[in-house]
Amino acid sequence: MEGLHAGQRGVLRRPRLARWRGEARRHRQGPRADRGAAPAGARGALSRPPGVPPRRPQLPDFPWDALVPYSERAAAHPDGIVDLSVGTPVDPTPEVVRHALAAAADAPGYPTTVGTPALREAAVRWLARRAGAVALDPGAVIPSIGSKELVAWLPTLLGLGPGDAVVFPELAYPTYDIGARLAGADPVASDSVTALGPRRVGLIWVNSPANPHGRVLPAAHLAKVVDWARERGAVVASDECYLELGWEERPVSILDPAVNGGSLDGLLAVHSLSKRSNLAGYRAGFVAGDPALIRQVLEVRKHAGLMVPTPVQAAMTAALDDDAHVEEQRSRYARRRDVLRAALAEAGFRIDHSTAGLYLWATRDQPCWDTVGWLADRGILAAPGAFYGAAGGSHVRIALTATDERVDAAAKRLTA
Ligand SMILES: Cc1ncc(COP(=O)(O)O)c(C=O)c1O
Repeated sequence: MEGLHAGQRGVLRRPRLARWRGEARRHRQGPRADRGAAPAGARGALSRPPGVPPRRPQLPDFPWDALVPYSERAAAHPDGIVDLSVGTPVDPTPEVVRHALAAAADAPGYPTTVGTPALREAAVRWLARRAGAVALDPGAVIPSIGSKELVAWLPTLLGLGPGDAVVFPELAYPTYDIGARLAGADPVASDSVTALGPRRVGLIWVNSPANPHGRVLPAAHLAKVVDWARERGAVVASDECYLELGWEERPVSILDPAVNGGSLDGLLAVHSLSKRSNLAGYRAGFVAGDPALIRQVLEVRKHAGLMVPTPVQAAMTAALDDDAHVEEQRSRYARRRDVLRAALAEAGFRIDHSTAGLYLWATRDQPCWDTVGWLADRGILAAPGAFYGAAGGSHVRIALTATDERVDAAAKRLTA
């Protein structure tokens, strides 16, 4: 934040929503001792005193680097590695999507940050059709450059900072934590809102179906989180990038009236086309929900140049209007899931949760790194559960994102 001039800080620090925080929030708009903000008229103090280093977000080491030795070990297998670590799609991007991208290739002008009307309308149709969402106005949707950047920047876009807790599940996609740190807010890993005590909560992340363990949160659970957050003026952001990958349970969106009582107040749903449409390479996501929050997020994104390329917007529009390719992809994953599940069971693994999503959360009740090593010796690369939180210390995450041929090879090695 030190790099921003006072005007920009004003944008980021704009009261997120006066109705959410009321007086308490307004009292916090002045200079903040914890940020060393200079009072108006003392702009000279904006220069850093000699010897004071710039504030850097305290970010952890990039976790995947620790997996490199295991990747090398697995790659030494005579029949090659089966990489089930990162959940990166391997099947073709659907024809209908590629055609739309190519047809929009002539794009000399800048795209709009808010997205084309066609894209926003397609997103609204998709949300009604596949997510059971309450009626949304296309103005309540904006595209994002994949959903990871939105996750990483949302606390900043909402104007959160020191003293604001950003809450996320104890076992979680690591970028929720990173986003809190980038904003200078307080990252809090907690599965229970009641355990949060009297702290000031700015944002609560929920993720169902969840990465890494594929658990689905029932509508009643989500509704409790929403009620709790609304009472305290906190925003709930629901990361729903695996919503269409329910296997044994039907995932519920936060935009569903069974969760939100028919109101979008304080809610944002974060969506991605990476997994449903094999579009990870395009960087295609969107966020939808409370129109006032969307307007605020949009305003900052416009200043920051966070816009989705025009051909990608056209590709997203085609992808959102087509469900046939999603069904095709689902059946590929369903088959791989059955094969891996059976082979892991035969090899003595227990699969926990994993009723939806793109992963099997597997354990032999051993430290996760031992299991990662055991699998690497068989040419299989898995993600250690510890990447996602301390509670994952005895699990590994097995992604369904490998070709049928590689999945069959993994099954053969597991059951040999
Ligand atoms: C829970 C969760 N959220 C967000 C993302 C980011 O996806 P993308 O940036 O491809 O939309 C991922 C990627 O694996 C994820 O697992």
